[in-house]
Amino acid sequence: MEIERVTILGAGTMGRGIAEVAAVHGLQVTVIEPSASQRTAAAEQIGASVEKGIRRGKLAVSSAEEVLQRLVWIESMQEAAAAEFVIEAAVEREDIKVELFQQLDEICGSDVILGSNTSSISITRLAAATKRPEQVVGMHFFNPVPVMAPVEIVRGLQTSDATVAATRELAERMGKQAFAVADSPGFAVNRMLMPLINEAVFALQEGVADAATLDSLMKLGCNHPMGPLELADLIGLDVCLFITNVLHRELGDPKYRPCPLLVRMVDAGRLGRKTGEGFFHYDS
Ligand code: CAA
Repeated sequence: MEIERVTILGAGTMGRGIAEVAAVHGLQVTVIEPSASQRTAAAEQIGASVEKGIRRGKLAVSSAEEVLQRLVWIESMQEAAAAEFVIEAAVEREDIKVELFQQLDEICGSDVILGSNTSSISITRLAAATKRPEQVVGMHFFNPVPVMAPVEIVRGLQTSDATVAATRELAERMGKQAFAVADSPGFAVNRMLMPLINEAVFALQEGVADAATLDSLMKLGCNHPMGPLELADLIGLDVCLFITNVLHRELGDPKYRPCPLLVRMVDAGRLGRKTGEGFFHYDS
C-alpha cells in the first residue's frame, strides 16, 4: 500500500517532530491540533529546523518553503475523514487516547490504519476501542524525532501482518529504521530505559553522588550521549513517572517501583526542560 498522505493528531514535541520528518520526506501532512498557539509554534519550529538542516547540507530539499507547503494545520477532528494513515501523538493519557481512537474509527475510511505514538499505553487496549483492531498499530518515535533513527512498530494482539508491513513501509519512507516489537509494557526501549533512569534517581536520592557526577560517569563510562538524569529532563519527568508506573503495575514486579524522589519531583512540578527545572536548571 503506497501511503502519500499522513494525518497527525497533536502538535506537541513529538507530533511536530513526526510532521517534520514526514514532510521532509515528501509526504503530504495534515496536523490536527486544537490549540492555535501550538499550531503556530510548531510551524515556526519546523521551519527553523528545516532551514538549519538545509544550511548544514543534511536535508535533500531545496527550501524550507517547499517542506512547509506540504503541511496543513487544522483544528477540527472532522478533517481526519480525508486521512490515508493516522498517527496519533496526543497527550499521554489513556482516557483521551481511547476517546480519540473511537472518534477516528467513526470518521476515517474503513481501510485507514490508525497508528499511535504512545510510549507505553497498550496498543491492544486502544485497538479494542475501535471496530478495526487489526488496523491499529503502535508507531513509537524517539525524541528528538528529526535526529533519532528508530521507530518501534508495536503489534497489538489483533494487529494484522498487512498493517505491520504498511507501517514499516511508512516509517522507512520517513527515513527511519523500523523495528517490530510486541505490545508488552514499555515495548522494548522504555522497558530498558526507564529502569536505568529510575535507578539513577535512586542513586541520587541515596547520595551516591550528585546529579552532575552521576551523569558525567554514565556519559564517559558508557559512552551515552546524555546522562540518565539529563535525558529524564529531556523526556519529561512526568512522562518517565507515567511509564515507570505502567511497568510496575502491568508487570507486577517490585523492581519497577518508581523512586520516591521521582514522584516528589513531579509533585513539585519540576518536570525537566519543559518547566525550566528538573534534575538540572534550564534558562530558556
Ligand atoms: N531537531 C532537529 N535537530 C536537532 C534537534 C532537534 N530537536 N536536537 C538536536 N538536533 C541536531 C543538532 O542540530 C545537531 O546537528 P549537527 O550534527 O548538524 O550539528 C545534532 O542533532 C546534534 O545536536 P547538538 O550538537 O545540539 O547536541 P548533541 O551532540 O549533544 O546531541 C542529542 C543532542 C541528539 C539530543 C543527543 O544528546 C542525544 O542523542 N541524546 C539522547 C537522546 C535520546 O536518548 N532520546 C530518546 C529518548 S526516549 C524517547 O524519546 C522515547 C520515550 O518514549 C520516552
